[in-house]
Amino acid sequence: MSEQRALVVGNWKMNLDHVEAIHLVQQLGVLLRAHTPERTDVVIAPPFVDLRSACSVIEADRLNIAVAAQHVNPAESGAFTGEVSPGMLKRLGVQSVIVGHSERREMFGMTDEIVNTTVRSALQAGLRIILCVGEGHEVRESGSAIEYVTNQINNALDGVGERHYDQIAIAYEPIWAIGTGVTASSEAVSEMITAIRDILPAGLKKTAAVLYGGSVKPENAEELIVLGRCDGFLVGGASLNAEQFVQIVSNVDGCYGKNR
Ligand code: 13P
Repeated sequence: MSEQRALVVGNWKMNLDHVEAIHLVQQLGVLLRAHTPERTDVVIAPPFVDLRSACSVIEADRLNIAVAAQHVNPAESGAFTGEVSPGMLKRLGVQSVIVGHSERREMFGMTDEIVNTTVRSALQAGLRIILCVGEGHEVRESGSAIEYVTNQINNALDGVGERHYDQIAIAYEPIWAIGTGVTASSEAVSEMITAIRDILPAGLKKTAAVLYGGSVKPENAEELIVLGRCDGFLVGGASLNAEQFVQIVSNVDGCYGKNR
């Protein structure tokens, strides 16, 4: 599958206001111009209030960075105080959305069913999705991580038509590795990434990038790509630092393809 491209997504979580966001995007632009990736797509996912500012800098400076939201409500409009719809994101110039991040699942009651409704609504609106899955510590200890994660994926993609397959990326983020500094071993990542690819329908297997997330840093990026066999990363903490994020992109770009 050498024609497949790698993907690195920076999830800024609830960090940086719109002024700080403009600054970080400008820094990313300068660094990415100096280290233009050949086979790696770059996406940033700032907070809602930063999205338009980020898009404006990217458009003005003609940067090769796509913008994702971190969450979306599946409804088109209505009485959903505090929420934002897929159509609103699309009209803002946003291309993608993260769906089902473990922080949304754990803190904001996002069930598998809501993840599925959100996935379908976002795809229908023409957004790309980065579908997040991953087990907690207890599930990992019980030995049922693969079953748990593959179930999450099957539930999330239930009823999704083939015409949407090229809009889908999947991010495996074991909850115990998020923000902890503890990265999953490349063996554990490879085992899960392979299991995920195995259960995807044939058409989706061909197109979907399967990412890893959880304490990714420039130092572990290459090993996780080559031995972990993933197609890139969903990066949290390290995406807030332009040098580190671009170094991760460069490291991925330098070794992607050697693992497939
Ligand atoms: P960290 O890279 O900070 O562990 O966060 C991972 C994550 O949750 C990205 O969505």
